[in-house]
Amino acid sequence: MKKLSARRRHPLAALVVLLLALACTGGLYAVFAPADKAQADESAQTLTIEEGKKLYTVGCASCHGTGGQGTSDGPSVVGVGAAAVDFQVSTGRMPAATSQGAQVPRKKAIYNQAEIDQLAAYIASLGAGPAVPTEAQYGPEGADIAKGGELFRNNCAQCHNFTGKGGALTHGKYAPSLDGVAPKHIYEAMLTGPQNMPSFPDTTLSEQNKKDIIAYLNAVNGEETESPGGLTLGGLGPVSEGLFAWVFGLGALIAAAVWVAARTAKAKKS
Ligand code: HEC
Ligand code: HEC
Repeated sequence: MKKLSARRRHPLAALVVLLLALACTGGLYAVFAPADKAQADESAQTLTIEEGKKLYTVGCASCHGTGGQGTSDGPSVVGVGAAAVDFQVSTGRMPAATSQGAQVPRKKAIYNQAEIDQLAAYIASLGAGPAVPTEAQYGPEGADIAKGGELFRNNCAQCHNFTGKGGALTHGKYAPSLDGVAPKHIYEAMLTGPQNMPSFPDTTLSEQNKKDIIAYLNAVNGEETESPGGLTLGGLGPVSEGLFAWVFGLGALIAAAVWVAARTAKAKKS
């Protein structure tokens, strides 16, 4: 009898212990969680920088030096800031090809955004410089397009042409077309002044000025894609897409019908 009651009590006791344990864990978590989170953030940042250093050592150090001090093949990157790294690597200019011409060209980026962030964090850790702008800074809210046009004509058009179509400079260099350049990268170009382009720090062009210029460029480039007459490829888009849907959709239906027919025929035979 005694044995039996002991056994009966057992599952309930286990439940009580479990609940107590849960309560304790909750309490402990509440006490230690904030500290843990701050610590986790810090070690995540250290990890990002370490990962960036590894990428840098493999892909960049041959030209920019092991500590970023520069070599005869590339300038120092100490103090250029995360914005310069994000711009150069996202637009595919960096890593530069070993045999470069008059100007390092824009090309397809070879690093993904996570790797670019790591490279940027590492280089920013070598010396302070402009940070990567936020969407609030380069986004369209509160921008004045007309003011942006005026600022663009006064500060940028002499090299990039009146609507940002680009143009040749001396010694085989050129100011590229700004059509299709992401707002973030336009902001970063103004902030860091790549190659022959002067930089426009906030003292020369305020944050608001930069926002206005980006909105202006978006407006002039957007206008063009809406060209009436359907002469651009975009005008053909919906038609060809519809055709694809018909051809492939119908094709798939027919294939399915044939398959079903073949199976029923086989089933009848056997
Ligand atoms: C083959 C040599 C070479 C390699 C590899 C290379 N760079 Fe460069 N980098 C250059 C040269 C040359 C310039 C200067 C271009 C100019 O201003 O005309 C430059 C410029 C830069 C700048 C701009 C500096 C400034 O003052 O704004 C950054 C940032 C940069 N590189 C980052 C990188 C990163 C990150 C990597 C690796 C992913 C890398 N580079 C790989 C040669 C190289
Ligand atoms: C003195 C001539 C000059 C002026 C003035 C100038 N730029 Fe540039 N810009 C250049 C050159 C040269 C490059 C190419 C740099 C490179 O390839 O690294 C460039 C590159 C850029 C890019 C990068 C485009 C791309 O293909 O990734 C942007 C964006 C840009 N400029 C915007 C501006 C804006 C906005 C202004 C005015 C506030 C301006 N520039 C003023 C010469 C100029």
